[in-house]
Amino acid sequence: MGFGKGFGKTILFGEHFVVYGLLGIPCALGSATTAKVERTSKPGYELVDERPATPGYKETKQGEYTALISRILEFMQVKAGLRITLGGDLVCASGVGASAACAAALARAINDEYKTGWNNEQINKAAFEGETAGSGTPSGIDNTAAVYGGLLLFRKNLQGGENSIEVMKIKKPVEIVLGNTGKTSLTKEVVEDVRKLKAEKPDEINAVFEEYSRLAEDAKKAFQNFDLQKVGALMTRNHGLLQKINVSCKELDELVETSLKAGAFGAKLTGTGRGGLMIALTPGKELQEKVAKAIEAKGFETTKTMIG
Ligand code: MEV
Repeated sequence: MGFGKGFGKTILFGEHFVVYGLLGIPCALGSATTAKVERTSKPGYELVDERPATPGYKETKQGEYTALISRILEFMQVKAGLRITLGGDLVCASGVGASAACAAALARAINDEYKTGWNNEQINKAAFEGETAGSGTPSGIDNTAAVYGGLLLFRKNLQGGENSIEVMKIKKPVEIVLGNTGKTSLTKEVVEDVRKLKAEKPDEINAVFEEYSRLAEDAKKAFQNFDLQKVGALMTRNHGLLQKINVSCKELDELVETSLKAGAFGAKLTGTGRGGLMIALTPGKELQEKVAKAIEAKGFETTKTMIG
């Protein structure tokens, strides 16, 4: 039996913009997906999916996961029959990098079962291959966070070479709240819509991308100076830019507004958007609790966790 684990992630800065080679700042979550693989005599694979999930998530993503698993098995040249059991404490929803966590966990479990000896870089390549099933042309940000963990500076190499991945250390972990819209969106579709919008309105949308590019450099500096007020303000501005590229929705906007009213330093959608999750920066347990309560009072589910 082989075993593997992949972290969930939150994107603090840069979803969608990273697809075009701009700087992204993702952070792994404490919760993870696990995969167990056992060889069987039947050809193909059998999937036992025991992951906790937002209602409707698994149904909406079923096709994506079938393609994800097949691609990883092919990439890692697994010919024998397998029983794959997915589990762990990551509650699967749009925005937490659930498919990337699954891809990383599965690649690690196969590596463990077949004693392939792959390092993180090779596991990351296998997980990326799986991600192409869901995101079409993924940047690699989700699988990188799922494989490496920690707070990262990520930049996709548009020439096809190695992506730039740097671990960023901050003074101490910071509390965040994730608010769940309960809606599931398909990354491939939303990424494609952004591509179309960029082609239809190049001047307008390229200006948004340029503004994001400056904002991301400021965010990196603000993290390095541990200036959390600034980080928060930039997150809220990042949300505004994501609204301009049409990847937010009314529930996400409501979650952002509610968090800010309750005192969050900043808030934005995280991940694909059009549903999924919102992240609010809430340093200190007291503020974290206050923001989570305000969100729950509006009928949304929350997760209280830390970054860094
Ligand atoms: C999804 O978590 C992040 C996106 O930027 C897609 C990608 O980077 O592959 C929307």
